[in-house]
Amino acid sequence: MKILSVVGARPNFMKIAPFVKVVENYNQNTSEKVDHTLVHTGQHYNVRMSEAFFRNLGIPDPDINLEVGSGTHAEQVGQTMIAFEKVLNKEKPDWVVVVGDVNATLACSVTAKKVGVKVCHIEAGLRSGDMSMPEEINRLVTDRLSDLLLTPDKISIENLRNEGVPEEKIVFVGNIMIDTLEQNREKADSLDLSEIIQKNLCRDFSWNGLDVEDGSYALMTMHRPSNVDSKEVLESLIRFIVDDLCSEKTLLWPVHPRSEKNLKEFGLWDMLSSHRNVVLLEPVGYHEMLRMNMGASLMLTDSGGLQEECCVLGTPCLTLRWNTERPVTLKEHGGASVLVGNDVQRIRKEYQTILSKKRTPQRPELWDGNTAQRCLESILKNSENPQPV
Ligand code: UD1
Repeated sequence: MKILSVVGARPNFMKIAPFVKVVENYNQNTSEKVDHTLVHTGQHYNVRMSEAFFRNLGIPDPDINLEVGSGTHAEQVGQTMIAFEKVLNKEKPDWVVVVGDVNATLACSVTAKKVGVKVCHIEAGLRSGDMSMPEEINRLVTDRLSDLLLTPDKISIENLRNEGVPEEKIVFVGNIMIDTLEQNREKADSLDLSEIIQKNLCRDFSWNGLDVEDGSYALMTMHRPSNVDSKEVLESLIRFIVDDLCSEKTLLWPVHPRSEKNLKEFGLWDMLSSHRNVVLLEPVGYHEMLRMNMGASLMLTDSGGLQEECCVLGTPCLTLRWNTERPVTLKEHGGASVLVGNDVQRIRKEYQTILSKKRTPQRPELWDGNTAQRCLESILKNSENPQPV
């Protein structure tokens, strides 16, 4: 059997790493090998956003790189489809496996279906209900087309049922990101915080602050267009950081390229970089982020993956969004996050509440580190010539 897996952007890499490993393990113990090809669309392309993750997570170099790079959504999706169709015609896989909700997920699932190749979506059924998010469009289209929908939690199963997806296409496998977290927790824990900071300071930024202690700092990531593309919104968030958060705490912020570009364009970079409690970092590696998350007293983020990691690590999290496709990570479902959007009054209020919160790790059902194995089993079971796992 031939499987072709696709990755495109940073949040895909930690989802594919454990899947690649279970395929390798499976092949060592069987004569009926799975022929596996890894395709990188090249949406994220620089060392810090892409290559470093392959190296640190032990993902083999992609067999094929489509090198689509930056562009508008239509450019990224269109170029990926054109290039991926050629790959499919040559490779003729039985399955295309897509993960998450980035442009590569959408482009490659559409292309595969159009040439008659079966699609398996890992992380199916997540819904924010917010059609202004490019990721929501990617999720809806991918799930509508997929032959096998592997869900991370039970709420996702309900979402798919409500959309009329036939029961036999849905399999509850758990959260594959947590496989990666469990496999890398020990290594992350051994890293030194000060070394991480010194190694990753942004270019043109020097920081002479005191050593940062575990439990004393806030950690932030922010890259969604709804938070960083409007000057007014971004400025009000930066004001909260400068006037409120950083009057009391040190903030560690690995800055996404989209955010760095806009902070500079809107004239907000200097206000941040000159503040004595703000530490601006380049995008950091997987282990470094996990280590910083383990020691943070709180997280501020608009990333979906970090909401999930905060849930399992128990880091109190202010989610800088009005909705989430991952409700299982919210306080009301036992998780560690509170939705605060980008309204500064609300952020201020929830920030005061969260300051007194203790770290309370939670583990939703099947977030047990064995999801990749269940993904491969499901694909094998759903193939024309079922093979024992
Ligand atoms: C993409 C995903 C989003 C995910 C995020 C994580 C979609 C629709 N969005 O958003 O779901 O949460 O990745 O990072 O697929 N850039 C670089 N170097 C790189 C990659 C990007 O400088 O290696 C720059 C690009 O030139 C662009 C900006 O970063 O200006 C944004 O990149 P883009 O791929 O458009 O989307 P993300 O905002 O990263």
